[in-house]
Amino acid sequence: MNVLLLGSGGREHAFAYFIAQSKQLDKLFIAPGNAGTAQIGSNVNLNPLDFNAVWEFCIANSIELLVPGNEDPLVHGIVDFINGKCSDSNIKISVAGPDKFASQLEGSKSFAKEFMMQNNIPTASYKKFDIHNIEEIEPFLETLSAPYVLKADGLAAGKGVIITDNFDEALNVCREMISNKTFGEASSTVVVEEFLHGIEISVFVVSDGKDYHILGSAKDYKRILEDDQGPNTGGMGSVSPVPFADEEFIEKVKSQIIEPSLNGLSTAGHPYKGFMFLGLMNDAGNPKVIEYNVRMGDPETESIFPRLKTDMLDMLEGVANEKLGKVEFSLDERTAVCVFLVSEGYPGSVKKGIPISITRSTNNDDQFVFHAGTKKQDEQIVTNGGRVIAVTTLADTLLEARENTYSAIEGIQFNGKNYRKDIGNDLIRFVK
Ligand code: AMP
Ligand code: GLY
Repeated sequence: MNVLLLGSGGREHAFAYFIAQSKQLDKLFIAPGNAGTAQIGSNVNLNPLDFNAVWEFCIANSIELLVPGNEDPLVHGIVDFINGKCSDSNIKISVAGPDKFASQLEGSKSFAKEFMMQNNIPTASYKKFDIHNIEEIEPFLETLSAPYVLKADGLAAGKGVIITDNFDEALNVCREMISNKTFGEASSTVVVEEFLHGIEISVFVVSDGKDYHILGSAKDYKRILEDDQGPNTGGMGSVSPVPFADEEFIEKVKSQIIEPSLNGLSTAGHPYKGFMFLGLMNDAGNPKVIEYNVRMGDPETESIFPRLKTDMLDMLEGVANEKLGKVEFSLDERTAVCVFLVSEGYPGSVKKGIPISITRSTNNDDQFVFHAGTKKQDEQIVTNGGRVIAVTTLADTLLEARENTYSAIEGIQFNGKNYRKDIGNDLIRFVK
């Protein structure tokens, strides 16, 4: 099978790595990819948002399976586009992702909130505002207690959520988001919602629209500094599974969130095919949805996929062709700890092109080095972004996995290498 994977992060290197383990694979292309994916398949200089170019490439290279890694192409409707082209031309390309309608779960916060209300899915209470009801923001904020949570409706590259304790600031920022379009069109509508207390956890699901499997739970570490201090990043590390996500909690996630979500989409005529990433708050044992994402997480993928014993192409093909029920699923019971090495200055501006020395690059059953912001310059691998390389280790215990990941990090050097030294620390108290 020839496969085209879209994206260039650590998540895509992880996808590429496990796709390449499958006996079914003939050729793997990654657009645009990074220095890690180039070691496994062929990187292609193609913009994933240029759907016509993606289609032309698929035809020219006899692609049978298209795998969008990140949300942008999904939210912009790549699945509908490729399916439409296929039915016009009688060509079959399987696409492992949700359609444009279902992708609104991530693409529009207000769509997601309305969907949850309609399907009785537990989430924070909310109200949406735009230029027409801007005067109703103040009375609504008065019904809430601090902290106040404001969310740009559309995609805002992870920056569209503002949480503040200050009532006046919340009011002013919310008005400005709408009238000054602080986040462009993404904030012409704003969702204001109740602050949820508890511990955050993510649960990952894969579905073909008929059947689903849980790929496990994970926690990511979003802030740049230890003890969750400093500005937000794309993610500094992850752990899977999360020790407090016990069977009872996961059962609640299934019955109160996953099944009503999948059923709600089927009823709406858009059965969900793809990965569903549920950002949850564990409120004293009760799960509430903070957000939906319509793709895998980064860096959660780097700790979830190493635990997955299922053949990746069987799974992706099953998703696209409603055959997931026939795919055998099993997860490694061990714990995976992933730590991201980032460039100096990240999440602010960073220097690129810094040489990287890797003396520990061989991926094996227990340890993985996933590239993100890297590229090859002549024969040298150099940095090419803020998040550079993710290192993951699987071990019987969280402590051991953490220790092995931190020791492997010593084998990867570049000037300005930075990373959090406390990944997983907060979870140790939950380990039985
Ligand atoms: P989102 O993009 O919706 O996931 O929000 C980004 C982050 O803001 C989440 O990962 C949470 O840490 C925090 N957050 C969002 N909504 C809430 C909420 N209602 N209560 C508490 N924290 C929230
Ligand atoms: N780790 C968060 C995300 O992928 O959105």
